[in-house]
Amino acid sequence: MTTSPRRYHITTFGCQMNKADSERMAGILEDMGFEWSEDPNDASLILYNTCTIRDNAEQKVYSYLGRQAKRKQEQADLTLIVAGCVAQQEGEALLRRVPELDLVMGPQHANRLKDLLEQVGDGNQIVATEPIHIVEDITKPRRDSTVTAWVNVIYGCNERCTYCVVPNVRGVEQSRTPEAIRAEMAELGQQGYKEITLLGQNIDAYGRDLPGVTESGRHQHTLTDLLYYVHDVPSIERIRFATSHPRYFTERLIRACKELPKVCEHFHIPFQSGDNDILKAMARGYTQEKYRRIIDTIRDYMPDASISADAIVGFPGETEAQFENTLKLVEDIEFDQLNTAAYSPRPGTPAALWENQLSEEVKSDRLQRLNHLVSIKAAARSQRYFGRIEEVLVEDQNPKDSSQVMGRTRGNRLTFFSGDINQLKGQLVKVKITEVRAFSLTGEALTLAPC
Ligand code: SAH
Ligand code: SF4
Ligand code: F3S
Repeated sequence: MTTSPRRYHITTFGCQMNKADSERMAGILEDMGFEWSEDPNDASLILYNTCTIRDNAEQKVYSYLGRQAKRKQEQADLTLIVAGCVAQQEGEALLRRVPELDLVMGPQHANRLKDLLEQVGDGNQIVATEPIHIVEDITKPRRDSTVTAWVNVIYGCNERCTYCVVPNVRGVEQSRTPEAIRAEMAELGQQGYKEITLLGQNIDAYGRDLPGVTESGRHQHTLTDLLYYVHDVPSIERIRFATSHPRYFTERLIRACKELPKVCEHFHIPFQSGDNDILKAMARGYTQEKYRRIIDTIRDYMPDASISADAIVGFPGETEAQFENTLKLVEDIEFDQLNTAAYSPRPGTPAALWENQLSEEVKSDRLQRLNHLVSIKAAARSQRYFGRIEEVLVEDQNPKDSSQVMGRTRGNRLTFFSGDINQLKGQLVKVKITEVRAFSLTGEALTLAPC
């Protein structure tokens, strides 16, 4: 088999943080002269940016890796890299398990890829998992989209939810400065990007680690202040942010979202469980009543806001009655979308060691029941869009129908309509909604010029 010498491939698992890290690492590789290869088998450098949030995410990585490790036995010049959260969790152990690896690098080291590869070039196997201060990246990310972009605002997480590996693998909170964030957004605006999603595992924690308090004693840099500060960046039409934590979500933030026209009326606020005792065991720091109050307040200010969340079923010790409290919350709140998962014990987390683990049968039965309710509720919630005129930011062609384009409403509903992607990419188009499904919409364009 012939492979061209400097082609790279990245497969990304996991959340938006990993996607953003992969875009930065791709930018570094291209800066070094590598070219993208869609097919890993044509690449001489393969990077897996990995996720370990649940056991099945981790196992997926090993099966991908196994195949390429075999290939490396025949092709010694293949460079194999594991980055991201499995790399951080396993460190040296990963080299023992897959000796063919050249580089194991945790998420905090993403911006150091060039340095690390130079060390690999000297003939070393490298493990980079020590905690470091994340330096501002001077290389341009290679972004997947030319319309929407992620911008990291805070790395890491200082919470200690008892089920979660993220604080172990992503390290302590590190906020970027408002100036660095605004400068990145301004550049994106100049390049023609229209929508920015500000990213953090717990984005409400933004600024807690930056110096400065106001006269009233609150941190000078909060997410709310950041929204005001970046709102007028030219050419950027929409701003989103994720993920919000109910413990820190404030009315001041809700008011800012209402007041600032570019901030979209979509809130992703995981609740995890609708039962107070389970929330306590998870160490989430709020009650289901507080969660409901947050949603009520959002809906007081913005009655049509769309709300999405994450939930876990089958947490250790969860009784049928406690699970039903989660169903009740979902029944009452009517989420636009809910990411659901069966609890998966993770290494190094407190809940993994508890003795009151539930069986896989109980967990998967509860997951199915919850998913069933979610799709009924989301379908009902979608009905409100029927016949309405929605603003859609066109991102791409519909992969299943090239006569259609697709984009998202302000409320984050995926929407399809007939049109030519060459004319419409990156445009805000008014679309009359003619068909509604649980998680997506179809409509007809009213204007083919920007709204
Ligand atoms: N920072 C966000 C979520 C990060 S992880 C928050 O605080 O909500 C993304 C989602 O994965 C979580 O919201 C949770 O629903 C799920 N998750 C995390 N750990 C899990 C585990 N051990 N088992 C099952 N789901 C888990
Ligand atoms: Fe994990 Fe909790 Fe941090 Fe979210 S807030 S990343 S669930 S520890
Ligand atoms: Fe997974 Fe790491 Fe994100 S564990 S969910 S990729 S922070």
